[in-house]
Amino acid sequence: MSTNEPLPNMTDQPDNPAALRRRAKQVLKDNDRGRYTVPNPTIYPFQWNWDSCFTALGLHAIDPARGWRELVTLTEHQWVDGMIPHIVFHRDDDRYFPGPAIWATGHQSPKASLGVLTSGITQPPVLGLVLETLSNRSDLDDPTLRPIARRLVAAADRWHRWFVDHRDPDRQGLVAIIHPWEAGRDNAADWDDALQVVGTDQLLPYRRCDTEHAEAVERPTDADYDRFISLLQTFRSRDWRQSELHDASPFRMVDPGFNACLIASDLALGRVAARLGDADVAARATRRARSKTAALDRLWHPGLGQFVCWDRIVDRRSDNASVAGLLPLLALSAADPRSAMLATRIERWMDVAPFGLASQDPTSKVFDPVRYWRGPSWLVVNWLIVKSLLDQGRHDLAERLIESSLALVATSGFREYFDPTTGDGLGGDGFSWTAAMTLEFLGLTRQC
Ligand code: DGY
Repeated sequence: MSTNEPLPNMTDQPDNPAALRRRAKQVLKDNDRGRYTVPNPTIYPFQWNWDSCFTALGLHAIDPARGWRELVTLTEHQWVDGMIPHIVFHRDDDRYFPGPAIWATGHQSPKASLGVLTSGITQPPVLGLVLETLSNRSDLDDPTLRPIARRLVAAADRWHRWFVDHRDPDRQGLVAIIHPWEAGRDNAADWDDALQVVGTDQLLPYRRCDTEHAEAVERPTDADYDRFISLLQTFRSRDWRQSELHDASPFRMVDPGFNACLIASDLALGRVAARLGDADVAARATRRARSKTAALDRLWHPGLGQFVCWDRIVDRRSDNASVAGLLPLLALSAADPRSAMLATRIERWMDVAPFGLASQDPTSKVFDPVRYWRGPSWLVVNWLIVKSLLDQGRHDLAERLIESSLALVATSGFREYFDPTTGDGLGGDGFSWTAAMTLEFLGLTRQC
């Protein structure tokens, strides 16, 4: 079942869905800069890769052409080697650190000569998933839309090939992230051990800005930031030659959630390419997805009953249970016995921390319900999990997660993330992807 299809037996509607829909659309309009959307005007005043992809879903509900435009703008900044960067710095704005002068990636992006610079790392590949969702809601025979869809298919295919070449150079089967920001889960407990070996002796002085816009207890710590910036400096010292960065990085982590997004995006890409008559891309994407799905076995932790990270530097499996280890539900078949085990984990976590889905096992020692990716619930992750549960036929659990996600927004607003034990809003306010996911969840309930 795709996320476009109705949920059976859903009876409880969120309070005043029409008002919630109106407010969500207003947030998206406020953050719309014409050809791209900022996640939030103060903490994140540029275009972010996976934020933009999720946000395109909400924009499409307001104006379909604008939704497609969001993705096109992002891919216009794809590097010549195929990477789609995690930030596009469309305008100057000194409210964010690290800005383009710190990244200093210069020539790598095709628009750099026009003064639009980017960061030098990437983010979770959800473009393929979003591309298929928009395609399912559109007429791909429309002569205006068809070339746009073809262009996005080509961009996603190039990006996914880049991942294999640059983040799995020894062809171990799965890709590694080389910076916590690539996972999008900046301060996840998954990286605690691995970040210890990232040296900070050569760190240049810097001043972070995020804690001027959000509570420090809800953000990564200064020690985390030192490591984030030290890694950036390492890559910058190599002039962002991506072919060297994997092996040069003191942080190389195989993240099950990241790889699950890549597999699901490749499968989605394959289906869209087939609809567009591009048999080569369809075959390539499906092949990539199959081999990665088989390689996921290595990340299974039988004791925990979920997937975990693999530290490629020390060649060791982690024992930490984060939400990334539940995301392979996107890639497994319903017949795979691990699917039922993952669904059971989701259910248990929600029994303990009932407001959305926690980003870290709420029974674990390191669980922190307010600090960014160490516990809080994020609507985009909830959407990915809902999508996987629907595909697996677990409508009951999907419905529960949809309702609790909508209740979070109805009660606490369009916050960046939420305390899964109390439902309190955390981080920034007026967040684009939270608004977009609200429209997605409302769309699922409306079709009942
Ligand atoms: C930040 O700056 O907080 C981001 O997560 C990096 O992309």
